[in-house]
Amino acid sequence: MQKLRIGLIGAGRFGRLHVKVLQQIPGAEVAALADINSGALYSAAAECHLAPEACYSDPLELIRRSDLDAVDIVSDEKSHGALVLSALRHGKHVIVEKPLSVSFAEAQEIEQAAAAAGKQVMVGNISRFSQPYFTIKRAIDSGQLGRIAAIRSKRDFSRSWFQGFGNRIHPVYESGVHELDLMLWYAGARCVKVSAFESSISGYTYPDLFSALLYFENGIMGSLNSSWMIPKGAPQNLVETLELDGTIDAHIEVVGEAATAQYQLAHQGLAIITGTGMQYPETTLWPAGLTGIGGAIQAELEHFVQSISRNAASPVMPLSHSVHGIEIADAIVESARTQKVIHLGEKEGAPNVYS
Ligand SMILES: NC(=O)c1ccc[n+]([C@@H]2O[C@H](COP(=O)([O-])OP(=O)(O)OC[C@H]3O[C@@H](n4cnc5c(N)ncnc54)[C@H](O)[C@@H]3O)[C@@H](O)[C@H]2O)c1
Repeated sequence: MQKLRIGLIGAGRFGRLHVKVLQQIPGAEVAALADINSGALYSAAAECHLAPEACYSDPLELIRRSDLDAVDIVSDEKSHGALVLSALRHGKHVIVEKPLSVSFAEAQEIEQAAAAAGKQVMVGNISRFSQPYFTIKRAIDSGQLGRIAAIRSKRDFSRSWFQGFGNRIHPVYESGVHELDLMLWYAGARCVKVSAFESSISGYTYPDLFSALLYFENGIMGSLNSSWMIPKGAPQNLVETLELDGTIDAHIEVVGEAATAQYQLAHQGLAIITGTGMQYPETTLWPAGLTGIGGAIQAELEHFVQSISRNAASPVMPLSHSVHGIEIADAIVESARTQKVIHLGEKEGAPNVYS
């Protein structure tokens, strides 16, 4: 079987992890790497054993290479939309890290361009590939929870991460899209009303705190809270493969008529008491296992490679769901700005992503 030849754009923290996982997958080959920062580019190439000839400081040069089947976009959030469109114009399949784009208009343009080009675009909404989140989805689909009434979710990040990288985009497109994607997946319906508030405690360009209420067309109510205010000293839970000094504190609860399902990502029961504090190593997303990097990132990238080898849209992560996620994200920003309820269902031509 011929290997899927992939060019990867963005040689930062997460791009390096993607390269290493793709290199583990028998059906894939990372044939090119691009980053506008040549320091990041060549140090990642050395770390991942890629030849300097495979490196590009202009991502468009990589995209133009005719011997690549697919492009994996792991660059800064604001660059995603234009890079996805460019890759589609050059006949490539795409996997793009979240968010798909930072505007609904651009997300729709991508959906149209993908259909016109006959190419697949999959967004790396990693939680769908994480076993605990998938177990909740299965419990919903099997009817174990009964009729779903509400979905409550929270995703908080360390304050130091906001200073380091969070403040490059409104947090709804960074931390929020993870939870929005889960809520859409669990609700199984379009979101039709959004009401949101936000606050900027640290005084940066973007708010470091927001809350949103969502109403889905099947009557499910959703609430989402996200802050980037976890203080220094909180237990570290990103260690080993993506070491970041700080904490992801995420929690989701699905309330059904028959039963409730809950998952707490921050502390799964594993603790390491270091000489200076506590670590709660996260072991579902990208753990270092006996045979390499495992967990959700491995399942997600392997699923992408398999889907593209069959030239089939992903049944797990359809593009239309990600487009609707960005529509909701835009509405959260708009509602917080105008202090009004935003009605999504009333938009003319709004597609029913679940029909
Ligand atoms: N799924 C997850 O849980 C998860 C976790 C971490 C990061 N991410 C996502 O991965 C992406 C990258 O995040 P990161 O933490 O690696 O950031 P990072 O800042 O470490 O790396 C981003 C890299 O992209 C490069 N870059 C920026 N614009 C570019 C462009 N136009 N063309 C080529 N390269 C460009 C930068 O020079 C930098 O090296 C983001 O979209 C982020 O949201 C997802």
